[in-house]
Amino acid sequence: MKQGAFLSDIQTLRRRAREHIAQGAVTSGYHADRETVLRLLNEALATEIICVLRYKRHYFMAKGIHAEGVAAEFLEHATDEQQHADQIAARITQLGGEPDFSPEGLTTRSHAEYVEGDTLEDMIREDLVAERIAIDSYREMIAYLADNDSTTRRLMEEILAKEEEHADDLANIIEDLGRH
Ligand SMILES: [Fe+2]
Ligand SMILES: [Fe+2]
Repeated sequence: MKQGAFLSDIQTLRRRAREHIAQGAVTSGYHADRETVLRLLNEALATEIICVLRYKRHYFMAKGIHAEGVAAEFLEHATDEQQHADQIAARITQLGGEPDFSPEGLTTRSHAEYVEGDTLEDMIREDLVAERIAIDSYREMIAYLADNDSTTRRLMEEILAKEEEHADDLANIIEDLGRH
């Protein structure tokens, strides 16, 4: 970059782009610590997978106790979490990493927990706790990424917004149940 110039000149951009072609989307202008970003993304992936599994379990169990409205909400969340897992896995490969889908150690990599819950209220409460854990850890991740990897940051911001929606849905359901 020329002194005082904010943007790299075209020649420099073209030269750098050709230098490490095999690295795909990762150019020499990528400023984040790739290894750390990949580790964080794999933890987020594990978190999403655990959330899919927990919501699926809750969906089938709630159906069994004829709580159809709540069951439908669980299923919707499970589908969203699956989509998040896929988006995160895709970003991991874009960054030249490997998405970790191994069941071995999944619960340890995940920030959120897999709790079955005995009653409908238990399930909803556990889901809300898991969402709140995801919200906090994604928020930290976003702060860490800052301007060093804006694509990953934007992805995590989108996912964070969805988790906040999920937490809000669950809080509303708890309130509704309390009224009846
Ligand atoms: Fe999610
Ligand atoms: Fe969620």
